Amino acid sequence: MQVEVLPSAVRNVVHSHRCGGRRIGLVPTMGALHVGHVSLMDAARRNCDFVIASIFVNPLQFGPNEDLERYPRSLEKDLQKCEAAGVDLVFTPQASQMYAPGAESEVRLTGLTRMLEGRHRPSHFDGVTTVVAKLFNITLPDQAYFGQKDYQQQLIIRRMVSDLDWGVEIVTCPIVREDDGLALSSRNRYLSPADRERSLVLFRALSLAQELAETASETPDSIARQMRQLFSDTDGVDLDYAVVVDCKTLELLTGRPECAVALIAARLGKTRLIDNQILRFR
Ligand code: PAF
Repeated sequence: MQVEVLPSAVRNVVHSHRCGGRRIGLVPTMGALHVGHVSLMDAARRNCDFVIASIFVNPLQFGPNEDLERYPRSLEKDLQKCEAAGVDLVFTPQASQMYAPGAESEVRLTGLTRMLEGRHRPSHFDGVTTVVAKLFNITLPDQAYFGQKDYQQQLIIRRMVSDLDWGVEIVTCPIVREDDGLALSSRNRYLSPADRERSLVLFRALSLAQELAETASETPDSIARQMRQLFSDTDGVDLDYAVVVDCKTLELLTGRPECAVALIAARLGKTRLIDNQILRFR
């Protein structure tokens, strides 16, 4: 497995593989890799000839009071996981290589990025779209792999790719959960034992949402209300939002839709967790 820190070095490697007609898969990450990330690499390995994983804690997507400084970093272990997953090249740039002094350009979407997560983390998605655009330009992937856990993020990246006519296929892979239902996240390691126990309310709320969606009398609005009630009944968890929205536009819904998604964001101590479930209405 090759490890490169310079965009120019990655470009050279990519160029030779593209000339050889190989299909390139990109798995963008911020490191602190877990089984969820490995599932993205496994999927890329199955579908592509040359798999690139990027490991870059992107300062641009962290707000002033967020956890950039304490975000977990474990490069040695991450490289071992990439190697075991059959990754061909890991790109681990420094911030100074990604954002040269004097850089002025960014990629910003104006609609999807302003709702839900965007309301609570105002410049977060501008940082995500900018870094993902740069990663696409450096690695020129045929396919790029993202997790469904960051539901709004993968939707925004799909929008960006379509708006800007990028020939990259976005593949969204299913959420990987612990046995008790907690969605895997690099931030789970911050949870105290008591918060870890409380965190199960997210999965309970999503399971309730699916159960209710199968009941003819329930609507997106009544389901969202019952999810929120579950959080009101749980001490030590501060809910940012629990909604049932259109799975493509993230707009609020009336009636029983064809495709809806339940989205939750909640804070436990200093840790903020997000989770979601696509709902099947019967
Ligand atoms: O989902 C993430 O880990 C990050 O937002 C991403 C896509 C790697 C961009 O920094």
